[in-house]
Amino acid sequence: MNSLIAALLPIGVFGSCPFMDIGTPPSLKAEVISDSDFKTALEGLDIEALEQDLRILMTDSQTCWPADDGHYGGFMIRLAWHCAGTFRTSDQKGGCGGAGIRFPPESDWEDNGNLDKARALLVPIKQKYGDALSWGDLISFAGTVAIRDMGGPTNPHCFGRVDDADGNKSDIFGVTDSWQDTDCVVQGNCQEPMGAVKVGLIYVNPEGPLNDPNDLNSGQNPDPEKSAVEIREVFGRMGMNDSETASLIAGGHAFGKCHGAGVMTSGFEGPWTTTPSQWTNQFLTGMLDEEWEQVATPSGSAVQWQTKDRTSILAGTMRLTADLALVNDDAYLALAKHWVCDQQKLDIAFAASWKKLVESGGGWLPVEDRRCEPESKATGQQTDPQKNFHSVCATTTTDDSQEASTATKFCLSFLAVVLTPFSLGVHSWLA
Ligand SMILES: *[C@@H]1O[C@H](CO)[C@@H](O)[C@H](O)[C@H]1NC(C)=O
Ligand SMILES: *[C@@H]1O[C@H](CO)[C@@H](O)[C@H](O)[C@H]1NC(C)=O
Repeated sequence: MNSLIAALLPIGVFGSCPFMDIGTPPSLKAEVISDSDFKTALEGLDIEALEQDLRILMTDSQTCWPADDGHYGGFMIRLAWHCAGTFRTSDQKGGCGGAGIRFPPESDWEDNGNLDKARALLVPIKQKYGDALSWGDLISFAGTVAIRDMGGPTNPHCFGRVDDADGNKSDIFGVTDSWQDTDCVVQGNCQEPMGAVKVGLIYVNPEGPLNDPNDLNSGQNPDPEKSAVEIREVFGRMGMNDSETASLIAGGHAFGKCHGAGVMTSGFEGPWTTTPSQWTNQFLTGMLDEEWEQVATPSGSAVQWQTKDRTSILAGTMRLTADLALVNDDAYLALAKHWVCDQQKLDIAFAASWKKLVESGGGWLPVEDRRCEPESKATGQQTDPQKNFHSVCATTTTDDSQEASTATKFCLSFLAVVLTPFSLGVHSWLA
C-alpha cells in the first residue's frame, strides 16, 4: 500500500518531515489563485481519491513526527478544529476558510504548537491535487477523514474554502505578546467580541477559569463546575449551544492524547481512553464510572485528573478539568447520560456539530460553486447494540420513556468527582 501511494505522490514524501516551509511559509505569505480559477479547478476535484489518500496518510507514520498509537487521526482532528475554532459570532469572523492557521498570528499561538508538523504531513496531498484543493478544504477534510478512519460518525464534507495569501484577516484575533492591541481587557478572561478566553488559545483554558477573573497571573481554578460555566460562555460566542458544545468535546476527546513534552505543548500527559484511535464512548462512560482525583502533570506545572482507583482499567487515562465539566453541570450531565445510554444519539449530534464547526465563518466560494460529498456519506445512523446498558440509564429520563424503563434493573452506582482545591501554574490547550 505504501509503495502504491509513494508512486502517486511527489518524490520526497517520505523521509524527514520535509515541506515544513510549504505548510507554514516562512515568508508569511503564499501564492493564491483567483476565485474563478479555484471554482473551475474544484469542479475536477476527485473527492473519493482524496479521501483514500488521506486514509493512507493517517497510518503511514513518519519517523520525523511519529503518529501516536500509529494513527495521525487525533493530530489531524486537532489541526482541523483549531483551524475552524477561530470563528466567533460577534462579527462572524474566523473559521477555517482562508486557512489563516498557516500564518502568524495563528501559527504562533500557544494552542497551535506543533501543528506546523501536521500541515507539513499534508503537503504531498496538497501538491498532488493542486489548485483543486485549497488548504482550508484540505485541513478540514483531513479532520473529517480522521474521524471516519477511526470509526467515528461524520456527515458529508463540503469543499469551497478560499485560501488567503497571508494571515492579515487574523490580525483582529491578536498576537499573544501584544494582546492589549485586541479588544480583550483581561488576558485569560477575554470577553466578547473575542471568541476565546485568551489571545493564543482556541477556546478556554482546560485547567479551568482564572482564580481571579481580573488577573492572568492568579492561576487556574481546577473546578469542573466553574469550567462548565466558562465553556458554555465561550462555545456560545462561537455559535454552539449546549448539545453542540458537549458533543464536540465528547466526540473530539474520544480520540487522541495530550503530550507533556515540549515547550509549546500543554504539559498535560496521557490519553483520554484506552483506545485513542478508535471511536468509543469511553470518554463519557469513564467519567460516569470512575471517581477522578487531581494530580500534577508530569512537568508539575498544571493540574490534570486520574482515576482514584489506581487498579481501574482506566488508570492509564486522564481527564482535564474542562472534560469533567461535562459531568459537573446539570445540562451537560443530562446530555452525557443520554449519550451513554444511546451512543447513536451522540453519533448523530457529533457528526452534526463537527460539520457546523468546520463550515462556520466566511472565506468560501458562493454556495452554488461549492461541492459536497453525497448524502450517502453520512454515518452515525447505526443503532447502538449497548443501548440502555449502562447503570445510569435507569435514572435517566429520556424523550422515549420505554427506552429508559428497560434498563431499570441495571440501577447501580453513581459518580462523585473528588475536588481537592489547589492549583498550580498556568497552562493551556484544548481539543
Ligand atoms: C498584510 O499586512 C501587512 C502589514 O500590515 C501588509 O504589509 C501587507 O500588504 C498585507 N497583505 C495584504 C495581502 O493585504
Ligand atoms: C442545538 O442546536 C442543534 C442544531 O440546531 C439542535 O438540533 C439542538 O436541539 C440544539 N440543542 C439545544 C440544547 O438547544
